[in-house]
Amino acid sequence: MNYVFNSDFSLGVRSTRGYGDVHFVAHNDAGGKTLVIDKRTSALIEVLQRDQSYGPDTTEVEVLERLAAEGIVSKTDARQSVPQLRAENLQFWIQTSDRCNLACTYCYIPSLNSSKKKRPDLFSLFGRKLLGVAGLKSVSIKLAGGEPLLSFEDWYAEVIELRNSLAEADVRLNVRIITNLTFLTPKIVEYIKMNDIGVSVSLDGLSANNDRNRVYKSGHGSFHIVKKNLEVLRLNGIKPGVMITATSENSAGIGALVESLVQDDLVFRLSDAKGGHIHPKEFEIAFTDAKRILAHAVTTGYPVSERIVVSDLKTLEPQATPCSMGTTGGALYLDGSVYFCHTEFEKGAPLGNLDEDEGLLDIIRRGYTKHLGLSLDCRTCEYRFVCAGGCPLYRVNGKSPMCSAYKMIIPQIFDLYDEENARV
Ligand SMILES: C[S@@+](CC[C@H](N)C(=O)[O-])C[C@H]1O[C@@H](n2cnc3c(N)ncnc32)[C@H](O)[C@@H]1O
Ligand code: SF4
Ligand code: SF4
Repeated sequence: MNYVFNSDFSLGVRSTRGYGDVHFVAHNDAGGKTLVIDKRTSALIEVLQRDQSYGPDTTEVEVLERLAAEGIVSKTDARQSVPQLRAENLQFWIQTSDRCNLACTYCYIPSLNSSKKKRPDLFSLFGRKLLGVAGLKSVSIKLAGGEPLLSFEDWYAEVIELRNSLAEADVRLNVRIITNLTFLTPKIVEYIKMNDIGVSVSLDGLSANNDRNRVYKSGHGSFHIVKKNLEVLRLNGIKPGVMITATSENSAGIGALVESLVQDDLVFRLSDAKGGHIHPKEFEIAFTDAKRILAHAVTTGYPVSERIVVSDLKTLEPQATPCSMGTTGGALYLDGSVYFCHTEFEKGAPLGNLDEDEGLLDIIRRGYTKHLGLSLDCRTCEYRFVCAGGCPLYRVNGKSPMCSAYKMIIPQIFDLYDEENARV
């Protein structure tokens, strides 16, 4: 079986702090579709460029079939089978309900508190679509909203049914609840424990600092109740991850929260609030505070690379896109619409719907174009495969509005990793 490298693409290699040489292949047009590839794949493409009659071995055919499905190589014999998109892992945000009891000042969910109801067959239909994806081994879902625990009774049994139906086809379902943790019952706690469900709690600071943004509709802060419920989780042996969203109002006080998360050995993510709620300088200040605490912790053996993620930065593995949306991820809305991202529910146009005949991966891939059109700065940047231009829905002139902050933060994260590795 012979393949030719599509001349619309070019091979490239980018020297990147933390990774050394990152190999990639990029489309030559203004869109610049880009894929990170490993060194062996890069060498295989070089062979194809030199020798069009090259006969690949079985392992190479597998790699070339994947490249063919992406349009990067073509088969020389038109009678050969049409390459099919495959995915071993898929990631989905699932909107369990639009209802929320908080009114966080920065919330980016456009459909928040709509009167839309979840269609009753949402999970079963989703399961059927997943089973049509070629090569699927695992699916990770984030149950979110609105506040997912307020509508627990509407989805808890269906999630387990989904897990069971996927298991029959040897597909694993990883479930994580993203919650403001203001509502927790013994039944929910038991469900989380019994079913090995992950929990991510949104918290932006200790006490008053959290309450600058994460407030009830009355304006009252939510920290006191979240703290109480965190203790309930702890007493039940449930270790949550924590999601910190930094804003102009709370960035100066995030260090104190980071200190307590390091002490409790909890995994956390420090993100800049999207949509102009924080200036890059303020995010740098928040990171610098966190870094001081982490740098000290690392000297005592703290595994920083396993505990903290910063925004969408890919500091563990180089990636061509800042998130999986449009490649192996999507966001499922209450009515069965599939969106590129949850920040577009009922605002942007959906990519498709579970009801249509088209396969789920094909629907997701319709969103890939949103990743295209990176600025020249990003395409030539050392951190092209760490920052990837930031969230495509919030880029300004083809690059992240947090660019200057990310350029300051990325090398410092790798400094922390170096320190961690030096101690192993
Ligand atoms: C939209 S909420 C839904 C789940 C739940 N209500 C909660 O607050 O965790 C999910 C996450 O999105 C984050 N978020 C909301 N608005 C954001 C924004 N403008 N930029 C970045 N993250 C945001 C929240 O802080 C939270 O961690
Ligand atoms: S609790 Fe979550 S969904 Fe509700 S307003 Fe806050 S960030 Fe938005
Ligand atoms: S936004 Fe800035 S840091 Fe990120 S890839 Fe583009 S130029 Fe590099």
